[in-house]
Amino acid sequence: MCRFAGEKSFTGQPACRHAAYLVENTDFPKYFAKHRLRPAQGDSLADVPAGGGRILKLHGEKVAAYRDPHSEVTCVSPYCTHMGCLVHWNRAERTWDCPCHGSRFGTDGHIIAGPAETPLEDRKPSAASNAKSQSK
Ligand code: FES
Repeated sequence: MCRFAGEKSFTGQPACRHAAYLVENTDFPKYFAKHRLRPAQGDSLADVPAGGGRILKLHGEKVAAYRDPHSEVTCVSPYCTHMGCLVHWNRAERTWDCPCHGSRFGTDGHIIAGPAETPLEDRKPSAASNAKSQSK
């Protein structure tokens, strides 16, 4: 039970709602900065193992890359569509998870759980990235 239950905030809204919002977002700046500054885990599609995901830096741009068991690679934007935190690979669930507020995305960027309301943007791996990955 919220300790502000029954009280009103300065906006006239239930104070409990505002308290919950503040508590949920207290750590947001810390996670946002920490994860945005996290270095990429590779610079080639060859750095992504079969059945795994990695945050790569390809041609100066970070991408979230997933390689399926048949070696097909799917790349999406690594930036959560809720408030822009960098997602990370959840090896157990095979999902892209956002550490800031808990949104979860499928390997192709579709939404599994919010608060994000739009999928991760598709990023096509360039021909150069593919050629580099095949030569390794
Ligand atoms: S930034 Fe809020 S869930 Fe990702």
